[in-house]
Amino acid sequence: MAWLVTGGAGYIGAHVVRAFREQGIDVVVVDDLSSGHAEFVPAGVPFYRGTILDGELLATIFAENTISGVVHVAGFKYAGVSVQRPLHTYEQNVTATAVLLAAMQDAGVDAIVFSSSAAVYGTPDVDIVTEATAKNPESPYGESKLIGEWLLRDQGVAAGLRHTSLRYFNVVGSGDPGLRDTSPHNLFPLVFDALVEGRTPRVNGDDYPTPDGTCVRDYIHVADLAVSHVAAAKRLDAGEPIEPVYNLGSGDGVSVGQIMSTVAEVTGIAFTPEVGPRRPGDPARIVASGELAARDLDWKMRHTLDEMVRSAWEARQAAS
Ligand SMILES: NC(=O)c1ccc[n+]([C@@H]2O[C@H](COP(=O)([O-])OP(=O)(O)OC[C@H]3O[C@@H](n4cnc5c(N)ncnc54)[C@H](O)[C@@H]3O)[C@@H](O)[C@H]2O)c1
Repeated sequence: MAWLVTGGAGYIGAHVVRAFREQGIDVVVVDDLSSGHAEFVPAGVPFYRGTILDGELLATIFAENTISGVVHVAGFKYAGVSVQRPLHTYEQNVTATAVLLAAMQDAGVDAIVFSSSAAVYGTPDVDIVTEATAKNPESPYGESKLIGEWLLRDQGVAAGLRHTSLRYFNVVGSGDPGLRDTSPHNLFPLVFDALVEGRTPRVNGDDYPTPDGTCVRDYIHVADLAVSHVAAAKRLDAGEPIEPVYNLGSGDGVSVGQIMSTVAEVTGIAFTPEVGPRRPGDPARIVASGELAARDLDWKMRHTLDEMVRSAWEARQAAS
């Protein structure tokens, strides 16, 4: 038996693939390489290159492999861009999820772990977000992730799908020097690219109502996140109870200013970040409790902030 990882050639999916294999569980990957990298898929892992919008491809994958469940990581993750490209975002995150669920139903595969996002909360008015905090997505991206969760819930009612959605907060770091976040929009790659190219990294706004004026976020290490996917899959395989949603957050806020200082320390490149204007829609602070996931999904912060920055920097350097 194997688990299918959609988006397994991407930053998070590739770490999920490795976490499953480390625990002796076989995986199969499907990825269209729209933002992923074939070289992120380890040798020996069956890899289907194609889009999950293609129901026939999915039927072939389910026919050719014995799949007990799916970790559905594939998606279009650029929240800012989603405002300009809502139809594309909905196609990739909503239609694609519906096609996947239909193919699973046809193949009799009834367990799924879904990559959801902190973006479902929008700008929360609480210090610590819990799973019960109101959902107010502020972009087509956040909306599409919430609809993805609803699709799973409704398919659970209609067809007995067993499911959980993991709402990731700010995923950073690297669990393997060969794997890194190559997003052109995320903080770590932006800062590292600037340093490598001799530019000064930039902070978007330093007049927020936070201790140092920069936005406060909840940074989690990608390898810690990956472990919880395996725990969720094991619960589903064992028929154990599982919550419909879990926050994967640290309970601890770190400011963008603190990240910049840590980057300067780790890289040995002294710099004072440029301060640009606030980005529209950026909440001052978003930090989540991961208590529920700690109870059920072996969730804990196994890495410090320094390790998150260092591992990401090492992977960035290995790539250049
Ligand atoms: N990185 C974060 O901080 C973060 C936070 C919250 C949620 N997420 C979610 O986690 C998931 C993975 O994010 P990531 O950071 O690894 O991004 P990523 O872009 O590196 O990975 C996404 C992968 O999915 C593949 N893909 C996209 N559309 C596909 C399709 N239609 N068919 C097949 N493959 C497809 C891409 O080629 C890529 O390999 C996404 O769904 C994202 O929304 C990420």
